[in-house]
Amino acid sequence: MADELLQQCKAVLAKNDRGNWTVPAGDLYPHQWLWDSCFIAIGLRNYDVARAQTELRSLLRGQWSNGMLPDMIFTKHEDFSVDEILWDSYLSPYAPREVATSGITQPPMLAEAVWRVGENLDDAQRQTWFKEMLPPIIKFHQWLYNERDFDAEGLVTLIHPYESGLDNSPPWIDELKARRIPLWVRFGRWFGVDIIVNLIRRDTRHTRDKQRMSATEALSFFVAMRRLRRQAYDSRKVLRKPYLAIQDLVFNCILIRANSRMEEIAKATGQDLPKALVSQMKQSEQALEKLWDATTGQYFCHSFSRHQLIKEPSIATLMPLYAGCISKERAKHLVNLLKDKKQFATNWPIPSTPLDSRFFNPDKYWQGPTWINMNWLIIDGLERYGYKDEAEELRQKTVKLVSENGVHEYYNPLTGDGEGAKDFGWTAALTVDLLKS
Ligand code: GLC
Repeated sequence: MADELLQQCKAVLAKNDRGNWTVPAGDLYPHQWLWDSCFIAIGLRNYDVARAQTELRSLLRGQWSNGMLPDMIFTKHEDFSVDEILWDSYLSPYAPREVATSGITQPPMLAEAVWRVGENLDDAQRQTWFKEMLPPIIKFHQWLYNERDFDAEGLVTLIHPYESGLDNSPPWIDELKARRIPLWVRFGRWFGVDIIVNLIRRDTRHTRDKQRMSATEALSFFVAMRRLRRQAYDSRKVLRKPYLAIQDLVFNCILIRANSRMEEIAKATGQDLPKALVSQMKQSEQALEKLWDATTGQYFCHSFSRHQLIKEPSIATLMPLYAGCISKERAKHLVNLLKDKKQFATNWPIPSTPLDSRFFNPDKYWQGPTWINMNWLIIDGLERYGYKDEAEELRQKTVKLVSENGVHEYYNPLTGDGEGAKDFGWTAALTVDLLKS
């Protein structure tokens, strides 16, 4: 089984290979995405480390001069040019001129990916690799703190759901509902606006409607994007009067872990990180406590505008395991949530939203389905906290899920059925990684 699955995953990555980077899925996701490419490099390193390096280097094509790494670098092709036109990154003086990108970022998985790729290089190559990649990583993390945490609280604020990578997960939809959604959006169907949205949307053309966001949600996200565009994607201007802004739990946990990776990379090359950055990094670890809610025994996202926790449970609550900075007691508590049959212990774990959430829907994108990248991150977190058996069980179940149902974007956590895009990049790559580890 393992060998056949390995070949199947490699074939998906070869199919999605565009030379120097890999698209998440042919027609549905035809561009280069930030965290997708990081996960893809983590898989590729197991059998073609040079190509894994190229994948990550390609991401740097899109780095803005202020340090931001955009979530998308657009593929130049007339079939997909609408995305480039809609975002129009050239409005910002910081955007690169050679490639068109989006104007927002995505979870900072780069330091982890660079580290993992480095593990598969020999000593001399690793030194060169780390020395090459450290400066852009530092620049990116500095941008995150300076532009998205300028009150120096230690938590980075996201200004669009797409930045979280978990687009329609419950905390974001709850935040959306708390905002004043323009009437023409809310009653879009009456005005026929949803027909126009569906023309712009690529996802509903390639996957089943019931598995994706509603037209109102998609339209609201589009409106949120237009507001950012009007401010030329200037975070400070946007955060003065934000529309959708969250201190996102998954993102901040990934950042905390990425900070440790960045420190390790710096140490390996005998370099010091800038002092200001080091103190910002320390603050993040303490600030994670602000996202803990003792009453419910969960971690939550925090609403930037409402100044309160968004108490909608989601898979994010488990992510501090991956961050690695919480106490052993807290970690034990999270492992118990993972084992709870009313919450995360489904037949095919881990559901992106727990079973007892009012949002839970086994087919709907980030509101229930199992995603392989989330499993990979949590397996890593379990290992770090010494839960070897639990990590191994989850690893085996994850591999079995893909092996029995194909290389899909996400899976029904109750039946295991593959959903979303077929031949999905990070599912293939991380399955390779789980098979090799
Ligand atoms: C979807 C996912 C996002 C991913 C992108 C490309 O938008 O929610 O996390 O990066 O697809 O695969």
